Order: sequence, then structure tokens, then C-alpha cells
Amino acid sequence: MSDAPVSLRWQGGPDGTLDILDQTRLPGRLEWVTCRDVETVVEAIKMLRVRGAPAIGIAGAYGLAVAAGEAVRAGHPPAEARAHALARAEELATARPTAVNLRWAVERCVGALDRLPDDTTAGDLAAALLAEARAIHTEDRDLCNAIGRHGLAVLPEGDILTHCNTGALATGGSGTALGVITAAWDAGRRFTVFADETRPLFQGSRLTAWELVQRGIPVTVLVDGAAGHLLATGRIAAVIVGADRITACGDTANKIGTYGLALLAAAHGVPFFVAAPSSTFDLSLDSGAEIPIEERSSAEVLAPLGVPAAPDGARAYNPAFDVTPARLIRGIVTEKGVASPVTRDTIRQTLAT
Ligand code: MRU
Repeated sequence: MSDAPVSLRWQGGPDGTLDILDQTRLPGRLEWVTCRDVETVVEAIKMLRVRGAPAIGIAGAYGLAVAAGEAVRAGHPPAEARAHALARAEELATARPTAVNLRWAVERCVGALDRLPDDTTAGDLAAALLAEARAIHTEDRDLCNAIGRHGLAVLPEGDILTHCNTGALATGGSGTALGVITAAWDAGRRFTVFADETRPLFQGSRLTAWELVQRGIPVTVLVDGAAGHLLATGRIAAVIVGADRITACGDTANKIGTYGLALLAAAHGVPFFVAAPSSTFDLSLDSGAEIPIEERSSAEVLAPLGVPAAPDGARAYNPAFDVTPARLIRGIVTEKGVASPVTRDTIRQTLAT
């Protein structure tokens, strides 16, 4: 069993760099992007070089440390250094709109900055922001482990179907939905993971399959459109996916295609689970209709992986996420326990644990 891959790492002290594993190159190439400025971090988040809700939160947090490093190099006095970091915070928080973990992590770092005295030097500010980002990163590893433990208690034995990538590449630890799957494997269960390829950017086939092959866990890739047929065969014991934002009532935004999968699972009586840390909940939103859905470039659909797949003149519809209503979800696995059935009350109680 090889170690889980690492999606990002900080190199050096407070004046160091953020290194991001460029997920757009996987599985073919392991290439790292070195971020010395916030612009490079924002570009990496927008282009999905780093992706997955918890991982972009961690990248955003380190991004603020990068911003403070910029202030140190520019020789900014305390007030300007603080203003510089705060201006960059908004750029980072808005790099992608759907995953709430990004804003959550950036705001947590801004909170750390707000607690520092006004005359804090750029150097000390950089050290404090790096410490906060490191804490968010380390905590996420522990959250993944706890999600894995709670998920194991509710996940039925047998083959599992999943969508997108929710593993080590998408988090600071073993993953959310994939963390549950690897926890089940490590507990001695034996099964095959069916991974939707996850059009248009193939996070399932490029990233989930890659992680599972590295872990020695059997994985079978299917085109997204084959999920209904697979479920109809009766082979799948459960579907488990991650989340980008979960509202107070349990409506859940996740990678485009998740909603259709949940409907198919319901039609075939297969339990459908969501796994996510509490930082993915946005209790300020009442229902899924309020979740901002990112729309991405037509080119991702018309020329997948750069290969033209539609005639010139065709347009594309490319929402990156959809919303699965709470009623289709058997349980939401968090680091604090499992909300099941999924209601406002069980969510509130689970998160208050
Ligand atoms: O566009 P992406 O690849 O960032 O979308 C990722 C997903 O939808 C994941 O399922 C979600 O962020 C959970 S990751 C633990």
C-alpha cells in the first residue's frame, strides 16, 4: 500500500512558497506549480490545478500567507501590509463560487489577522497567517480520518459507486467520500469501486482511479451515462459522493452529474450518502436554490482534454455543479457523526456535537 498523494505543500518559512500539485496534468505527469504570488494561487484554483472543496480552502488559506510574503518583499509598513493581505483575501475567496470551504478558510485566516495588534510587522503577519493555514491543513487530515470512521459505520458492505474525486487530492487528508471508501478497505472489507469518469474534466477517471490504483483498491471506470445501467444490475451496495456546499435543510451542491446519480440511486433503492466536513455546511442558506452554481468555459465541453468533440458553431452548457435535494440523501457523514435521516434537526444536532 503506497502513501496517499499530497495535493499541496508549503516550502520554507513564512517567506516560503506554496507548491500545488498540478491536477490538470494527472494521471500522466506529476508536476508542481510553485506559487510565490497570489496571482499564481488564484490562477491555480480557477484552472482546477488544485480542486475539491477542502483542498481549495487550504490553498486559499496558504494564499493569504503568500500575500503576506508579497508584503514582506515589498517592504510594506504594518498598516499597508495588513491592507495588502485583506485586499488579496477577497480575490482568493472569490476564485471559485460554489465550494463554501474556500471562503470559510480565507475568513478564518482574516479572523487570525484581525486579532493581531495594529503595529504587527509584515514579517510577523506572515508568520501568523502561515501558522493558521498550517492549522487548517493539519485539521483537515484529522477531519478526514473522523469522516472515514463515521462513514464506515453506515456504509453497507459491497461494491461502491462514486462520482468526481473526493480523495487525498481533494483534501488535506485521506478524503471525504473516498476517505470512507479507503477506511472500509483498511478495515478489511473487499469490494470494487466504480468511478464515474465525471465529464467534462474527468476527475473520476483521471484522479479517483489514479488514487485507488496507487492504494491497490480495485477500481472500474464507467462513463457517466452508464451509471443507470450499472445500478439496474443490482451490483451496487451504495453510492457515496462529496459536497461543495450543504444548506441548512441538507440540499447539497456537488459535481455536475451528482443529482442525476441520486435520482438513479433512489429509483433502484440504493442508499445514497454524502460525506463532507462541517466547513462544507452553509447554514446561512435555507435551501439549494440559493447556492451559487459555477458555470465554466464552453471549451471544457466542446473540446474535452483539448480534443475537439463538437463542430465549430455549436455552443455548450457547462454548469460545474448541481444540487441534490435532501430527500434523496440517506445520510450526510461528517467528522462529528452522521445526519440521518437528513433533516434540519438532524443536521443541527450533528453539527452541534
Ligand atoms: O470542480 P471540482 O473538481 O473542484 O469539484 C469537486 C467536487 O465536486 C467534489 O466532489 C467536492 O469538492 C468534494 S471534495 C472532497
